[in-house]
Amino acid sequence: MSAPIPAPKASTAEHLRTDHVEFSDRFADVCGRARTGDWRDLDDVWGGFSRAVREHLAFEERELFPAYAERDADNHARVERLRAEHDEIRRRLDELGIEIQLKCIRASTIDAFVALMKRHAETENTYLYPWAESRGHA
Ligand SMILES: [Fe+2]
Ligand SMILES: [Fe+2]
Repeated sequence: MSAPIPAPKASTAEHLRTDHVEFSDRFADVCGRARTGDWRDLDDVWGGFSRAVREHLAFEERELFPAYAERDADNHARVERLRAEHDEIRRRLDELGIEIQLKCIRASTIDAFVALMKRHAETENTYLYPWAESRGHA
């Protein structure tokens, strides 16, 4: 009897890229529930979403940013910007959490969060994750 062939492990960068897509889908679900007045489970849904985003940010800060920033001045500057965006994402999550508790999410808060997440994901997908793959985080 031959041993089962293990499924190929998805790379760290692949996981992180998938997270970006999932965050966008899950946030669209949150907004859809708010728009239709479906607030019943939104606190729980929001709690899970917010936790997943915060874990993603913490992982990048711990596992990727320090070594990436070390390479040269451009990378260092990029990580400074990414860290500032992480802080802004956390502030926006807090803001959205409060609005959800109050059962009133402002369109401007949603738009700002979507734009921020999109811009941030594009930078990481273009610069940080290809570097991670080349470093063997693949
Ligand atoms: Fe990030
Ligand atoms: Fe990310």
